[in-house]
Order: sequence, then C-alpha cells, then structure tokens
Amino acid sequence: MNQFHYEYKMAKSWTLQAGSMLKEAIAENIKVEYKTSLSDLVTEQDRGIENYFIHNIKKEFPDHFILGEEGQSNDREFNPYENYVWIIDPIDGTTNFIHQKRNFSISVAFYKNGKPIFGFIYDPIQEELFEAIKGGGAYINQSKLPEAKPAGLGEAVISINPMWLIPNNKFDHQKFIPIVDKARAVRYLGSAALEMAYVASGRLDAMLDFRLSSWDIAAGLIILNEVGIIPTKVNNEPIDVFQHATTLAARPNLHEELLFYLK
Ligand code: IPD
Ligand code: CA
Ligand code: CA
Repeated sequence: MNQFHYEYKMAKSWTLQAGSMLKEAIAENIKVEYKTSLSDLVTEQDRGIENYFIHNIKKEFPDHFILGEEGQSNDREFNPYENYVWIIDPIDGTTNFIHQKRNFSISVAFYKNGKPIFGFIYDPIQEELFEAIKGGGAYINQSKLPEAKPAGLGEAVISINPMWLIPNNKFDHQKFIPIVDKARAVRYLGSAALEMAYVASGRLDAMLDFRLSSWDIAAGLIILNEVGIIPTKVNNEPIDVFQHATTLAARPNLHEELLFYLK
C-alpha cells in the first residue's frame, strides 16, 4: 500500500472536505432537479461535489480515470481492468440529502487494474468516516472494526430495499416473505454505501438491494472484505464492481441463511 499512500492521503482529505461542503449546503435552500422521474432526483451539490473530485484528481493524477455517478468527467471510454480508476458517488442517498438532510454519504474508491486498493464512505452529518485499505483492516474514525461474527436471522436486523417486497420484474418478491417474517427487524436507510458500512460495523447484520452501480458499492466492497464479509448477488454469483449487480452483504452464516430463502 505504501505505493499508494499519496493517493490515499489526498482521497481522505478531499472526502472530508467534500463532507464539509455538503454540511454547509444543507443549511441553504437545495435546488432539486429530476432526472428520469419524480423519484429520481439530482441537485447542484451532486454535480458540484463530483466536479470537485474530478478537478483535484485530474490535477494530481492526470493519467487516472474517473467513474462518477453524475458522469461529469469527460474521460473517453476506458477499460477499468487495465487502468487506475477512481469510483465516486458524490452523494449516495440524494433523496435523504434533500428530504432529511441526513442519512447520506460520500463514497470514494480507488482501483488498479480492476483490483481494490482503498475506499472511503463518509457520513458528514454524523462525522463518521468508514475506510479501508486492501489488506489493512477497516476503520471507523480511526478505530479498527472487528471481524464480522456469525448471527442467525432471528437475531438479525437487516436492510431491504422495499422495492423487493412488491411484485417486480427482477425477482420473485414472495421469497422475501419468510425473511421479513423471521428477521428480528427490517430497516431501509436509503444510502446503499452507508448500509454496507453499517453491515461492516455491525449496526446492520445484512443489507439487500436492487441493481446497484459501481459508485454505490465500490468502497463498501473493500470495507466489507476487510471484516471478512464477501458480498454476492442475491443469486450467490460473485459481484463484479464494474457491472450493475443486485447486492447481498451479510455476516457469514446469515449470508447462507438468506440465500436459502432466496434460491
Ligand atoms: C441510491 C441509494 C439507494 C439505493 C439506490 C441508489 P443515489 O443512490 O444508494 O439506497 O437503493 O439504488 O441509486 O441515487 O442516492 O446516489
Ligand atoms: Ca448512489
Ligand atoms: Ca448519487
């Protein structure tokens, strides 16, 4: 990792700075625009924070590529498996950012030739920084997160995107009925990155979400891996961070138990 110490240091300071910018923004009037529907929202802060990262990354590391949700980088098509790639969600949980002014995060990850190097998920309202360097453990605000311990569904608090629970064209929603029935409690935070960070830190025992994108999961995968959790798709196929994927992240034995109901 020594090799990427400078990238890591810069990424951390940009992430914290971006968090301060979002914290300032919520004190003002947030202008909302619609992308594809009334529930697909974007703000000038989503674009502004992404541009902030792009500007800094391009200045420091001109040969690196950027994959950001808002597509503000004018990078030409590139092969993520053969390059240095920064994967950025400037605001994960934009709906929460607008409506609740909390429960959102900034997700930043750095990959080399398709392999994880480091990731950050920052909740600027709680001032909680989840971070991991591949092979170096995962941390919340400098405190090391312990290895994930087993738990059964009956003692688990799990996060499920409620869209799974109504008839949909992606998955048989009835398979979720016994899961909801048997779990101790079901929650949905609305920031997939934060949900992954919460699974890594034991605040949630599992999270399941629909078709997530690279920027939703790139940092979360690295952080979870460092506590011994390997997320999969809900059909137990491995996740490729550069492809859209359903996502199931859970404590080791709970993962198996959930897959049993989902098969
Ligand atoms: C969304 C959040 C949400 C998840 C959606 C994502 P955004 O990201 O992570 O929890 O269920 O699939 O698109 O749009 O707020 O960055
Ligand atoms: Ca997102
Ligand atoms: Ca976003």
